[in-house]
Amino acid sequence: MKRIELEKSINGKAVADNILTEIASTVGSFSRQFRRPQLTVMLAGEDPASAVYVGMKVKAAGKCGIDSRLIELPAQVSEREILDRLEALNEDGGVDGILVQLPLPSHIDQHKVIERVSPDKDVDGFHPRNLGLLAADRPRFVPCTPLGISTLLTRYEIPTSGRNVVIIGRSIVVGKPLALLLSTKGERGNATVTLCHSRTADLPSITRRADILVAAIGKARMITGDMVKENVVVIDVGTNRVDAPGTKRGYRLSGDVDFDSVYPKASLITPVPGGVGPMTVAMLMQNTLRAAQWAKGVGNDSQ
Ligand code: GUN
Repeated sequence: MKRIELEKSINGKAVADNILTEIASTVGSFSRQFRRPQLTVMLAGEDPASAVYVGMKVKAAGKCGIDSRLIELPAQVSEREILDRLEALNEDGGVDGILVQLPLPSHIDQHKVIERVSPDKDVDGFHPRNLGLLAADRPRFVPCTPLGISTLLTRYEIPTSGRNVVIIGRSIVVGKPLALLLSTKGERGNATVTLCHSRTADLPSITRRADILVAAIGKARMITGDMVKENVVVIDVGTNRVDAPGTKRGYRLSGDVDFDSVYPKASLITPVPGGVGPMTVAMLMQNTLRAAQWAKGVGNDSQ
């Protein structure tokens, strides 16, 4: 944890904790008027990293007064059962937000599952309707990691307007919605966004032009110091498990960015852990609160 104390390190954990406190206060008044917001999380299979993430989400919900329920399903669960359970949750008036932890076991069609979640309870923002609304400049539920990155940039007063943002990774979880968010007209957008991926030719020539570089690739330490320019702002979304024999867990977390070679050139950089991860969780709580508010016809309409 020493890294988050470094001068140029972005303290996502501290920002997320502040936001959770703000959310807790609004959840308190909402709960007095109606009932506590409720988030249901579905976890299928035994992926250890997913179990850790889901645990963090449930814990954060408790911290800010949101009720949560975890539905754990075996890896062999049928697609039919998942779809039926989602249908029941969609119909349940006591459930405000539904999250299906990804990745799903390989025999299950992820798209079918995402599309079965009611767009009104889709706190992950992955349903085509919510992604479409984001693309159409009418954001409703925005995916949590992109929203967390945008919020982090705002809270650190890092302008995006007119700046070259290079995003590596084109997933619907991070890269694609973030590209939409940061290129949208407006104070928190207006960036010139380049979206790179595994087929991008001569990646270093593009990353070196970045004023803000977002790495969401899933490959430990892939971005090295020679791939960035001086004073770049670096947002590292990677949480890769790297073998670390002799440590208690046998692994440690490493970002997609080679922190030690990039840090000297960066003006600001998110550490792993303690950077983007806590923001994702905080934004999930924000989306859940909004789902509850919108269901009751109260709350602010904009993200
Ligand atoms: N797996 C990795 N990131 C996420 C996320 O933001 N939401 C869900 N549901 N699964 C994930």
